[in-house]
Amino acid sequence: MSENTTSNKTVSNTISKRIMRLSPSTTLEINARARKLAANGARIISLAAGEPDFGPPQEVLDFIKQKMDDPANHKYTFAKGMLELRKTIAKKTTDETGVEFDDKQVIITNGAKQAIFEAFETIINYGDEVLLPAPYWTTYPELIQLAEGIPVVINGSIDNNFKITVDQLEAEVTDKTKALVLVTPNNPTGSIYTSEELAEICQFVIRHNLILISDEIYNRLDYTSMEAVAASPLKSCPEVKDNILIINGLSKSFAMTGWRIGWIIGPQNITNRIADLQSHVTGNVNNFAQYGAIKALEIDDSYFMNMKETLYSRRDIMFDKLSSINYHDKPAFLNIQKPAGAFYYFANIENLLEVPLGEGQHTSYTDSELVRRILDETGVALVPGSAFGYPGYIRFSFALDTSDLIEALDLLKKYIEQ
Ligand SMILES: Cc1ncc(COP(=O)(O)O)c(C=O)c1O
Repeated sequence: MSENTTSNKTVSNTISKRIMRLSPSTTLEINARARKLAANGARIISLAAGEPDFGPPQEVLDFIKQKMDDPANHKYTFAKGMLELRKTIAKKTTDETGVEFDDKQVIITNGAKQAIFEAFETIINYGDEVLLPAPYWTTYPELIQLAEGIPVVINGSIDNNFKITVDQLEAEVTDKTKALVLVTPNNPTGSIYTSEELAEICQFVIRHNLILISDEIYNRLDYTSMEAVAASPLKSCPEVKDNILIINGLSKSFAMTGWRIGWIIGPQNITNRIADLQSHVTGNVNNFAQYGAIKALEIDDSYFMNMKETLYSRRDIMFDKLSSINYHDKPAFLNIQKPAGAFYYFANIENLLEVPLGEGQHTSYTDSELVRRILDETGVALVPGSAFGYPGYIRFSFALDTSDLIEALDLLKKYIEQ
């Protein structure tokens, strides 16, 4: 190779433009900073992680231990997932939505994150637009852009619990629109779309021949109903079945984050192509985690109902604590509403961003600066709204031990009110 060719290379053209455009995940970044502080001896309590503190049921663990003794399970299995698990998921989805599915329509992925990545890679062409309601889960715009699509962000209004409406969608849809992302129950707002709202949104999707990316990872965490599963687009509107890719997994509703079990279920013409992609991306998802998933999906709903009850009581504790915090005689957090689902509060912090310096002078912070100060000075980790495309807010997770939750909120109160 001549000297000239090598000397023209710089770091900026070594790394692809696609990857140069990526921003790292803010939530993982905050957790990394928190871990570093903890490694230096600080007491850190994380209200930042979307990771419930429950363990998997004992029967799941026992089942896997048994499977470990069988040498066949130490070998490659189907790239798109074990047949038995795909059948279990197809049946469960049929039971929950009333729409028939079979195993060919299911792909098992390394967590829902990989499912979302593969869905966009499979359906998006360069320049396709994806309607993305905000606040959005931080990974969505990145993965849309990685697939060379364009996220078209639509702000949900606080007056509508951050939910978007069909009128808003109609105003943004163009000939280039390929898909709509919908996350219900929602991260970071905890909002849940009603069956009626979902039916209307599905009709919009069908009318414009779009693909609905329906992220249902929190679907068992609906505090407004005794039903095991929250309202879903497909159940509300079975006609959307050819236009919907459902994303789900065990991380949130089953509290099995580290198992990395996610899945996509949808029309076979799309799942066949996702399977092709996955066959080049990963051999297969870990066999033992897949066995664990088969068992977890068999377990009676009452196990998860108990988990939901615990989260429900933490939701109330957090509401009372957050509502009691004042800053210069004003509420520190505005528009706090008890979330209908998931395990997050998304609170407006505009009162905290203006800091009086005396003699009528003020200085102001961004939400990210405030979150960093709170972490450094109290040891409480939070996520700024800007990570979700919605600056001026903070997300609080209540998926942690109740006494840690209380300690963190008391520390926060002391820090803000002092
Ligand atoms: C809305 C949403 N979708 C998907 C995921 C990813 O889940 P997993 O851990 O299974 O990759 C998360 C995790 O925070 C999430 O909040």
